[in-house]
Amino acid sequence: MAGQSREIAVVLLAAGKGARMKSSVAKVLHPIAGRPMLAYPLSAAEGLEPACLIAVVGHDAEVVEATFSGRATFVRQEEALGTGDAVLRARSALDGFRGDVLILYGDTPLLRTETLRRMSEVKLATRADLVLLTAVVDVRGIILRDGDGRVLRVVEAPDASPEELAIEERNTGVYLIDADLLWKTLAGVDNRNEQGEVYLTDIVERVANEGRRVEAIQLEDAEEALGVDTRVLLAQAEAALRRRTLNRLMSDGVTIVDPATTYVDSDVEIGQDTTIEPGCVIQGDTRIGCRAHLKPHCTIESSELGDDVVIGPSAHLRPGCRLGRGVRIGNFVEVKNSTLGEGVKADHLSYIGDADVGAGASLGCGSIVVNYDGIAKHRTVVGERAFIGCNANLVAPLTIAPDSFVAAGTTVTKDVPRDALAVGRPKQRHIEGWVSRRGRVGGSPEKSGRKR
Ligand code: UD1
Repeated sequence: MAGQSREIAVVLLAAGKGARMKSSVAKVLHPIAGRPMLAYPLSAAEGLEPACLIAVVGHDAEVVEATFSGRATFVRQEEALGTGDAVLRARSALDGFRGDVLILYGDTPLLRTETLRRMSEVKLATRADLVLLTAVVDVRGIILRDGDGRVLRVVEAPDASPEELAIEERNTGVYLIDADLLWKTLAGVDNRNEQGEVYLTDIVERVANEGRRVEAIQLEDAEEALGVDTRVLLAQAEAALRRRTLNRLMSDGVTIVDPATTYVDSDVEIGQDTTIEPGCVIQGDTRIGCRAHLKPHCTIESSELGDDVVIGPSAHLRPGCRLGRGVRIGNFVEVKNSTLGEGVKADHLSYIGDADVGAGASLGCGSIVVNYDGIAKHRTVVGERAFIGCNANLVAPLTIAPDSFVAAGTTVTKDVPRDALAVGRPKQRHIEGWVSRRGRVGGSPEKSGRKR
């Protein structure tokens, strides 16, 4: 019978430089599907509700700590002396902790909470002292088992024989081990190996040699173990996370017409019966309601869209937009940091920036909110049911009262009162016979008698 589950402390290793990324930015800060890489293993670990979460940081430590402030206790490893040394940096932060320590890496964004939970369940059910996560993947640590399948040790590829190199089962670098046993075992590990590093993997042989039980769980979905240390693997992880997000949305009742050309970040939420047509890019912290329709080639960044909105084709919502129910944003309309009330329409070729537009207002084709004077941004308020004619310029700061009407082509620089027509355009005049005198377009000047 399985015993009581034990408390878990997490140690997340993220001190490495990630030299193969060829970047001035720390590897774990590279964005993947809208979050920095480290956010993924951090969330996977948070899913276990651990007693504490320690992140070992080194390269670009200040930025990593600032980015994830509040989500982990940070300890520093100033010099990358090996995975064993990195874990030892967490020891004082875990002083007095008596449960299990889960060790994982900051560069494995595809690892799932369920997998980590399964490790804990297996540890409990088998009364193992150490549980390892393995997979058939191309990484350095080779799993050596005896004839009965018991794990004997992990040998690193540079230290392995040709026979050992042929073994396909590899160490993903995720371990669950009793805290006291970890510190006792790790204390005896040195750096006498090909790479001159303190190998965390050495604890496996030491624990096994003491006659203790080591269990290895092999991942069915080896992709979960993907460790990102190049830009090629970064793109591979991004594609896998995108696929997961699209599958989640489709199973929640969202129609994705063409998953292959739809790019949705991990934190995006979309309501039932919304349809996303090909070529849409939905980024950041975006929330979209039910029955919305995104026509092809829209880009939406960190915005909130209510139920029944219709966007696009080819519309761009920049960060900070809040669109009420039934809003319609059409072709080549850009909206930024603006609130659009229920039923607002801007069907073609508009720019709406830093504006609060009341319910039922309508912005005609080519209408522009002039929000920037070259130095500062200013806000514009458009009241409910106001009608903004085509090609109007609304020069902020400005308030257009509800139920007012701005004539097409007007450049509005003064507040417009309620129920008024604002019109500001030169009067049209006619010059009779001008066309014949000038010569018709495409006609010959001789025939028209035009003077040259
Ligand atoms: C390690 C394992 C190997 C396993 C592989 C899986 C050891 C000795 N080897 O190899 O068995 O198959 O991971 O990917 O453990 N890190 C630090 N400080 C250090 C060194 C590493 O924080 O001093 C962090 C890195 O940032 C990274 C993780 O530990 O997140 C793994 O380091 P990496 O150098 O990629 O490990 P490998 O040598 O590939």
